[in-house]
Amino acid sequence: MTALTLSTAAAPGLRADAIVVGVAKGGSAKSGDLVVAPGAEAVDKAYDGGLAGVLETLGASGGEGEVTKLPAPSGFKAPVVLAVGLGAQPDKGASFDTETLRRAAGAAARALAGSKKAAFALPVADAADAGAIGEGALLGAYAFDTYKENGRNGKKDGKNGKPPLAEVALLGGKPRDKAYKAAVERAVAVSEELNRARDLVNTPPNDLNPEAFAAVAQTAAKEHGIKVQVLDEKALEKGGYGGILGVGAGSASAPRLVKLSYTSSKAKKHLAFVGKGITYDSGGISLKPAGHNETMKCDMSGAAAVFAAVVAAARLGLEVNVTGWLALAENMPSGSATRPGDVLRMYSGKTVEVLNTDAEGRLVLADALWKASEDKPDAIVDVATLTGAMVLALGNRTFGVMANDDAFRTAVVEAAEEAGEPSWPMPLPDHLKKGMDSPTADIANMGERMGGGLVAGLFLKEFVGEGITWAHLDIAGPAFNESGPFGYTPKGGTGSAVRTLVRVAELAASGDLGAK
Ligand code: BES
Ligand code: MN
Ligand code: ZN
Repeated sequence: MTALTLSTAAAPGLRADAIVVGVAKGGSAKSGDLVVAPGAEAVDKAYDGGLAGVLETLGASGGEGEVTKLPAPSGFKAPVVLAVGLGAQPDKGASFDTETLRRAAGAAARALAGSKKAAFALPVADAADAGAIGEGALLGAYAFDTYKENGRNGKKDGKNGKPPLAEVALLGGKPRDKAYKAAVERAVAVSEELNRARDLVNTPPNDLNPEAFAAVAQTAAKEHGIKVQVLDEKALEKGGYGGILGVGAGSASAPRLVKLSYTSSKAKKHLAFVGKGITYDSGGISLKPAGHNETMKCDMSGAAAVFAAVVAAARLGLEVNVTGWLALAENMPSGSATRPGDVLRMYSGKTVEVLNTDAEGRLVLADALWKASEDKPDAIVDVATLTGAMVLALGNRTFGVMANDDAFRTAVVEAAEEAGEPSWPMPLPDHLKKGMDSPTADIANMGERMGGGLVAGLFLKEFVGEGITWAHLDIAGPAFNESGPFGYTPKGGTGSAVRTLVRVAELAASGDLGAK
């Protein structure tokens, strides 16, 4: 992992491979109206106040995420200045938006792969800005090269991509100030755990089956003083977890239900996070066609997010109890697999007619939600790559938020916004429940095709304990980035929802989580 420190060093004397500065589009309409962002005064001065002009000559526009490298001015210890675009300059008196800074720091860190150390001289108006820049840099520097011949485990000759930027020094902050220290510590804990969630998502499904995932959770939990309990196939059988067992029935790798309990002696609230952990979703007997299964190792992104968020909450010592539930199974077709037409008896006692074995996420979540409800938490949030319909509705960067309580749904959407994650509230219209009527069982695992994301949400709602506030995040779109990297988001696993869950836990700890 990239190291992060606050530094008071002045840019000229700093020993680093590069100094990162911000450049914004100025207020006037004429093209090439560039403004060097605050934080880079010393650098600009060394160019005799001409940095904006030099950047203009080099074709920089100040557009968000744009990266321009230029030789550092003479007298500088660092050889390179990297200017990153911040988009439009904020109104007079206002500072740059934290998410803009986070993304810019991410783009800069990614562009500096192969470098050892970089100093970030971006605009820092307060501790939150320092945290955002730190987070962006650590998330943007991420690379998954475990399986590359010349990656982490081999010789680093650059043939298979450069190693990530190793060290980030943040300039412009106050290293002795409590708030700044806390912001950097938070950025490190959240980013490290989020990057670990990305690693889990990116790990190929032949290496990350339910058992392997549970083992990773066990190790991490021990390290961070989190209580962990793993239900294996025998325990699941004994407990009557028909949903998780039914989904895992076709796989040579047995399912698991993992419970992670982080408790704080000062906690006033208890949150439960539930994650969909399908380590590979082939669709089962309702097999997915080619073109739809190549990235389905990402179907455990919800469980990865929950896992990362619980560990982050523990590392930050948040004053709230957080229970994480990882519903782990592999969805495969075989002679022992659940058939379309089979009826499963769920942990809640309800029966489900499985009409489509590819609607498996809701089955494992149903058992985990009912189990989580038994503890009577103040609220449950589940996270799942649940439906293609949600991707059609909201695209690849926004997750949908559904809930059984409007105020809680709003609170979660606001938490996501504060965390820098795009999300959107979605309804759970009662009339769509009818489509899941089954002639044989209490409910079917499929309903109307139209509004498929909401239908899935309505199915889950049936398995939330009476009177418990619940929200459901469908992250099928943003969990896995199949196109090029942007901002601090790499190709592949993104760590979607980790920061939202951490923010929800923080708000619950401070008593500020909406109505709850
Ligand atoms: N894991 C998929 C959803 C998914 C789709 C995740 C695209 C990430 C990207 C889920 O298990 C699934 O197959 N859902 C079906 C449900 C349908 C059969 C009712 C879907 O969305 O097509
Ligand atoms: Mn599926
Ligand atoms: Zn799935």
